[in-house]
Amino acid sequence: MILEQIPLGEGKNFAYIFGDEATREAAVIDPGFNTEKILKRVDQLKVDIKYIFNTHSHGDHTAGNSKVKEKTGAKIVAYFKSPSAKDISVKDQDILHIGRLNVRIIYTPGHTPDGICLLADGKLFTGDTLFVGECGRTDLTGGSAEDMYHSLFDKILSLDDSIEVYPGHDYGNKPRSTIGYERKTNYTLEKRSVEEFIQFMKES
Ligand SMILES: [Fe+2]
Repeated sequence: MILEQIPLGEGKNFAYIFGDEATREAAVIDPGFNTEKILKRVDQLKVDIKYIFNTHSHGDHTAGNSKVKEKTGAKIVAYFKSPSAKDISVKDQDILHIGRLNVRIIYTPGHTPDGICLLADGKLFTGDTLFVGECGRTDLTGGSAEDMYHSLFDKILSLDDSIEVYPGHDYGNKPRSTIGYERKTNYTLEKRSVEEFIQFMKES
């Protein structure tokens, strides 16, 4: 699998390029800032970008969509209720194909109502739902601590410990992690009831 984590500088955002090594078909995730850097790597890797995925509609994850689309001809993919411009609308458990890779959409609202994670070949791209050692804030427009609880505890933590975690920002003590590491060390994933989690998010 081709996989590049690209620090965008501003906002400690991460964009990603991932794809199928054999067919060179690939996708870009969250081209927020610094599209020149992303497009340069696309050129160097000699990949054909089929999709641009947005993990959610915040500008720091979507601002470079049109530039990357213009250069690559890729289609923009986002959750069907996302307010941002898109070519393909997806919902929970949809599967898209990139070469021989299957990309599963996991709907994870909480940070925003249109949040998704992407699961491909044992790698989970978590956007602003889960960071290394943290979870996304729920106090912005459309945020919901209750939704975040269900996204984290019912969906993300139901995944195997070996799944690798690739977050939307570099907020942790390392740039990537695993479900097992987060389950053990992330203070936001400590066992809580929904009510306790809502209270915890209010206080933190
Ligand atoms: Fe965000």
